[in-house]
Amino acid sequence: MQSVTLEVIESARLYGETHILWLPLPEAFATAQPGQFVMAYCGEGYDPLLGRALSFHRTRQGASGLEFALLFDVVGRGTDWLARRERGDELRLVGPLGRGFEPRPNVQRMLLVGGGIGVAPLVGLADRLVEEGREVTLVLGARSEAGIFPASQLPPAVELIVATEDGSAGERGRVTAPFQRLLPWCDQAFACGPNAMFEALHGVVRTSQTAKPVQALLEGVMACGMGICYSCAVFPRRGGVKLVCHDGPMFDLRDLYA
Ligand code: FES
Repeated sequence: MQSVTLEVIESARLYGETHILWLPLPEAFATAQPGQFVMAYCGEGYDPLLGRALSFHRTRQGASGLEFALLFDVVGRGTDWLARRERGDELRLVGPLGRGFEPRPNVQRMLLVGGGIGVAPLVGLADRLVEEGREVTLVLGARSEAGIFPASQLPPAVELIVATEDGSAGERGRVTAPFQRLLPWCDQAFACGPNAMFEALHGVVRTSQTAKPVQALLEGVMACGMGICYSCAVFPRRGGVKLVCHDGPMFDLRDLYA
């Protein structure tokens, strides 16, 4: 984990209220895995004081070397400030933090499920899995079409299934139904989204009585991002306490809800 200050290469609204920032990939972040995150310090000086936890979104080859992206919804002062960064502006980040997704070796069929901005780390995971020659189906859910990551930005090999609550794109409803259909097909599943989505997915896993591994990437409320403040504590049903920033954000879905 290191603190780095980077110059923004590109900043754009990608869709709906969702923004993308491209930055040069520093040596310190070269080993970052899909599902790991950074704390991004927004604003001038110490206001706001606390960083925003943002997943590594994806990487690309830029004109001067590797670049990485952060994808985020504009939901408050910090993310509004971030979205107004322009090419050449500086941004301080601390990372890579947390435990990312852990795809099993020697399995082929990968099911990725994202709710809302939960798509952010799944795109980088899909990039990686496709590069490795695995089959990837990505299920994305949102309230409406405006919240769905553009299909044109995904690797062509990814099969995309969309579910929207208002039926404005894909099938009407939530990601739970396509997850239920595809769970028997996959060798391993990965999910990122709100807690209500994880509870619904766990309901499917429980009733289907499958032993398929499902990794959940939690979106915790994080103040420090490094195991000091306990703002991100979660309480698995079996008991005990886990810190999203330190023990996760990736957990086995069953460890949280079973
Ligand atoms: S964010 Fe401070 S302990 Fe996790």
